[in-house]
Amino acid sequence: MAKTITLFNNKGGVSKTTTCFNLGWMLASRGLRVIMVDADPQCNLTGMVLELSAEDALEEFYNVNPGVNLKEALEPAFKSRPVPLQPVDCIPVPGRDGLYLIPGHIALSEDETSLGIAQQLSESLQGLRNLPGSFSHLFKITADKYDADYVIVDLSPGLGAINQNLVATSDYCLVPCSPDIFSVMAIDSLARILPRWMDWARRANKLEVLAEADYPFPEPRLKFLGVVVQRFRVRSGKPTQAFQKYFDKLNEAILDSLVPALRRTDLLLSATKYRDSGMDSHYVLAEVPDFNTLIAHSQQTRKPVFALTREDVGRGGRLWSNQEASIDSFRDTFEELAQRVIKLTDGS
Ligand SMILES: Nc1ncnc2c1ncn2[C@@H]1O[C@H](COP(=O)(O)OP(=O)(O)OP(=O)(O)O)[C@@H](O)[C@H]1O
Ligand SMILES: [Mg+2]
Repeated sequence: MAKTITLFNNKGGVSKTTTCFNLGWMLASRGLRVIMVDADPQCNLTGMVLELSAEDALEEFYNVNPGVNLKEALEPAFKSRPVPLQPVDCIPVPGRDGLYLIPGHIALSEDETSLGIAQQLSESLQGLRNLPGSFSHLFKITADKYDADYVIVDLSPGLGAINQNLVATSDYCLVPCSPDIFSVMAIDSLARILPRWMDWARRANKLEVLAEADYPFPEPRLKFLGVVVQRFRVRSGKPTQAFQKYFDKLNEAILDSLVPALRRTDLLLSATKYRDSGMDSHYVLAEVPDFNTLIAHSQQTRKPVFALTREDVGRGGRLWSNQEASIDSFRDTFEELAQRVIKLTDGS
């Protein structure tokens, strides 16, 4: 059965989408079947996969491909239509066999209010009982159709009802962050929010009205995979002093605040699991330095930085050999990240 991984941090701009795309690509290049889900109304992940440079390109895509996006696929549940949810016809990601996308929708945020009301678990729940279990049901039937090993979900920044639902009903969550003061603060807030969301999910799972829904609320089973620290400058192979300071502060927040909170609420895997996957004691899955000039080529070619070729970069001679070394090093980093994720999640 496919494993669902959410990429979550309420802080914006910390490489959630970039990590989703790169991790998904790397897992697929190792022969695994991966469905990425764009659950962010900003639709940045969708923009990384589809050619959307023309104005109205997304509208045009929705018109030509009805039902091929997260919002429309969930409509039978959200509009109480008497038809069951159907697996999504995912978009195969160009250039990477085994990798698929459920595109996002800019109007997904319109569903947030009804989901929020349903998730208050009050008397008004009866009419909205199919909403809380609908996302995980949709992912399950779509993953079954594609025989997927992983469903990787890119979330918006923020603490809305959709993120609450997707994180609390996923198998694993991974927290991208940057070495800066805002990410340190965000780790502290995750230490409060994740336990609160899991309490809620455990209560929701016990409610008869949700158990009897067409899409029953699943048994919560979330576990924390770790953090990916991204976008810092290196000198002689190490983060510069200015960044190192924030690495230290992040480590402190993870160990002193996040991990104890996750341990109390049973959101950690066993210590052996983290150790066997080769992680250090700070739950860091990967450290990814700034992509520098490679980011532009990656965006142009809609490929991860580690999959860029000499042709993509359009460089000769010494310039290429510098870039090639940098691409190889990013490939090693993302390969290690993928291996750790596979090991932690018992993927094969
Ligand atoms: N390692 C990196 N080096 C350089 N640029 C990066 C790196 N990772 C991400 N970026 C760039 O930083 C910006 C923000 O990244 P991304 O969109 O992945 O963050 P996000 O957390 O998904 O943001 P949001 O919260 O808005 O969804 C993007 O322009 C992306 O190309
Ligand atoms: Mg994003």
